[in-house]
Amino acid sequence: MAEMKSYGLLKGKTGIIFGPLDESSIGWHITRSIYREGAEVAISNVALALRIGKPQELATLCGDAPLIVCDASNQQEIDACFAQVREKFGKIDFMVHAVGMSQNIRKGIPYEKSNYDWYLKTLDVSGLSLHRLIASALEHDVLNDYASVLAITHMAAQRPFTTYTDMAEAKAILESIARNFASRLGAKKIRVNTVSQSPTWTRAGSGIEDFDKMFYYADLLAPLGNASAEECGDYCATLLSDYTRKVTMQNLFHDGGFAMMGLSQSMLRLMDSAMWDVETMKTAGFTDEQIERVHSRRNAQS
Ligand SMILES: NC(=O)c1ccc[n+]([C@@H]2O[C@H](COP(=O)([O-])OP(=O)(O)OC[C@H]3O[C@@H](n4cnc5c(N)ncnc54)[C@H](O)[C@@H]3O)[C@@H](O)[C@H]2O)c1
Repeated sequence: MAEMKSYGLLKGKTGIIFGPLDESSIGWHITRSIYREGAEVAISNVALALRIGKPQELATLCGDAPLIVCDASNQQEIDACFAQVREKFGKIDFMVHAVGMSQNIRKGIPYEKSNYDWYLKTLDVSGLSLHRLIASALEHDVLNDYASVLAITHMAAQRPFTTYTDMAEAKAILESIARNFASRLGAKKIRVNTVSQSPTWTRAGSGIEDFDKMFYYADLLAPLGNASAEECGDYCATLLSDYTRKVTMQNLFHDGGFAMMGLSQSMLRLMDSAMWDVETMKTAGFTDEQIERVHSRRNAQS
């Protein structure tokens, strides 16, 4: 598809995004889209990200956007961040949470063997941080009436994706926090939503075990194929605009239709072609009992 043109959807709006790292990041593309749509945006990430990633380059691409160092799980840094936001913009119209991290995933620890110190860190950084950010934004009175708050999530919050491990719980917390704040912020017309994005090749995403398989599976099952980070950026821009001012408390799937799919005939046939080879099934992780069961049922039918 040709590069999107600007519709000026966010002209005159200001906001902050937490989490852009490099060109692969979902947050990077959200920033590019909202800047293209006319918003002024501050970019935030942890100090390490400024050293290993390219937030500075993104800031330059977005009209020398303010760059604010902030660990979204550290209250002092969050307070300092919103003090800076107030100074640069006064009140803001949107806030985007595109932050995620799991040491258990990074180190390839299976769910059953989770390291609980890392588990708590995952919940804190990837889930609870949304609570801290919204609560502090309110405390510092930086959110305008009619502001839009968005966080990026994944379907593993609701349905098991084996390799998503402790991030599944972090996302469940994230989605619940979004709903609970949304229910409280209606009086100020502030809306809070989560966008549930397709598997996307980013540093955080590609660390997940068997990520490539998860990516291609979703890509083949979703009627429109996986949504890219660029497409996520464009979708988020609409959710920060006045055109979606009555959308709140929602978990919005941005996944080419994957979440609503049951079976597709092509996937069914693909599965069938692999299902009758015992070695293939064993390698995939099916138990002897499962293999025996389907094979004997099939033999009985033929
Ligand atoms: N990649 C996927 O497949 C996928 C799918 C659905 C949802 N998501 C979500 O999208 C969001 C963005 O992730 P991404 O996939 O673009 O990966 P990414 O690695 O590009 O971005 C994650 C960001 O979180 C930042 N971060 C980590 N700890 C932080 C902290 N304490 N404070 C502030 N920032 C911190 C990192 O520095 C990084 O910039 C995450 O919430 C992720 O879970 C990703």
